[in-house]
Amino acid sequence: MYEIVRQLEEKRAGARGGGGPKRVEAQHGKGKLTARERIEVLLDEGSFEEWDMFVEHRCNDFSMAEQKVPGDGVVTGHGTVNGRTVFVFSQDFTVFGGSLSEPHAEKICKIMDKAMQVGAPVIGLNDSGGARIQEGVASLAGYAEVFQRNVMASGVVPQISLIMGPCAGGAVYSPAMTDYIFMVKDSSYMFVTGPDVVKTVTHETVTQEELGGAVTHTTKSGVADLAFENDVEALVELRRFIDFLPGSNREAPPVRPSEDPAEREEMSLDTLIPSDPTKPYDMRELIEKVVDEGEFFEVQPAYAGNIITGYGRMEGHTVGIVANQPMVLAGCLDIASSIKAARFVRFCDCFNIPIVTFVDVPGFLPGTAQEFGGIIKHGAKLLFAFAEATVPKVTVITRKAYGGAYDVMSSKHIRGDVNYAWPTAEIAVMGPKGAVEIIFRKDIGDAAKIEARTEEYRQTFANPFVAASRGFVDDVIMPHRTRWRICHSLRMLRNKKLENPWKKHDNLPL
Ligand code: HXC
Repeated sequence: MYEIVRQLEEKRAGARGGGGPKRVEAQHGKGKLTARERIEVLLDEGSFEEWDMFVEHRCNDFSMAEQKVPGDGVVTGHGTVNGRTVFVFSQDFTVFGGSLSEPHAEKICKIMDKAMQVGAPVIGLNDSGGARIQEGVASLAGYAEVFQRNVMASGVVPQISLIMGPCAGGAVYSPAMTDYIFMVKDSSYMFVTGPDVVKTVTHETVTQEELGGAVTHTTKSGVADLAFENDVEALVELRRFIDFLPGSNREAPPVRPSEDPAEREEMSLDTLIPSDPTKPYDMRELIEKVVDEGEFFEVQPAYAGNIITGYGRMEGHTVGIVANQPMVLAGCLDIASSIKAARFVRFCDCFNIPIVTFVDVPGFLPGTAQEFGGIIKHGAKLLFAFAEATVPKVTVITRKAYGGAYDVMSSKHIRGDVNYAWPTAEIAVMGPKGAVEIIFRKDIGDAAKIEARTEEYRQTFANPFVAASRGFVDDVIMPHRTRWRICHSLRMLRNKKLENPWKKHDNLPL
């Protein structure tokens, strides 16, 4: 017994020591925490229960038999974040560069399987040199096992990836199939082929950071959702983020008691919309004035800024917010914003999160770049996402709702549950100027006539009443009452039941 306990302590110490003090020092030298330190920051104090601490690799080639570290380069287990269970794996770069061996993959798969059974999120802290080179195909098989589970878990439990070091080659595809990707600036990168291969094949010279760093992926590619300054900030914000989400698709999102009265009126919203319809205003201001305590967790803030996506709470209940941002591209829908918002809407729908949509959209962005890039197919993604969503949907049209974009933005016609308009709403096929130039083309040389026709069109459509008279908006509300009206609608919708017809799966225009 004594000998077993001694061995146990020795093995535990071996696992906790990772790749040894020198490598831990090197990890700290790069400004990175170790795998275990990261878990400590992420989880509630003392809540972590580690599994498979004694797992070792089974590779004997390249003198690997003499190099075994208990745990084999990944720390796995479960714990709590603000009292709610999460499963976590944290790759240990100090052990073979966090590379993925077959047993390393088995450990990840084990926690994923259990997370699915109990209905809890899976959080992956990625810091890995990729496939364990000494293992060959066994490692690739391990990756594929993880990939398969990513797919099976998609829409069942939230999966969140935090990239905190290298993530290259095929290894990027596991995070890519998770719901959210957070990255750490200057110490993490993701790419399919690194700068050396890029140089050989395309003769481009780029650094790792330029090719696949946090800024690149949160501003240019849209692969990642948020970039943070360092490990601690990323982990603390991840804790905040998890608080918005349910453990699985079988439960409602958590409710956090709020002191913010549902009836709170925001008089300043009555003057938010400028009198000149071509002038922008900050849609973020509206969002922050409407949600509980002004707390809004924006996702992808630096990508496709013409649409805002993020989470807030109304009377303590999580809501997903989608809003056109008139300050960027006048709030037009384009390829990037359609894809960004479609994915967001689908996540909310998977996880029972009601969607609140604020609309000020002059239409789809014109141009060859958009048409050649496939705006038809990509714009359809957002239309598809809103139309298939069965969660409660509350929509507020603040100003423009023109053309196809009006239909797309959670309109009544695609099962918006409650659709409001502010008195400043303009709901029409297109803006007055464009409309008159088409229907009165023969008068184009006559400025006075065109002006009169434009004014006539504006008088007819630059108001919410045509839509309201047909029941396409349920009510015209005063801006200062927006919070109360949304809260009231969401209360009414709390037990909403709506099911789409049975199908194997849909055929989203990818
Ligand atoms: C085994 C690895 C490893 C790997 C790193 N190490 N990557 N061991 N398999 N894939 C080990 C190193 O030997 C070293 O061991 C330690 O980890 C730290 O590595 P360094 O190179 O010293 O660190 P650094 O300079 O920070 O560079 C990190 C790195 C580099 C950029 C990740 O190590 C690297 O390029 N590694 C190889 C990446 C790669 O090609 N992986 C396979 C990709 S293909 P010691 O003992 O010296 O500390 C792939 C396919 C997945 O992943 C397919 C899925 C379908």
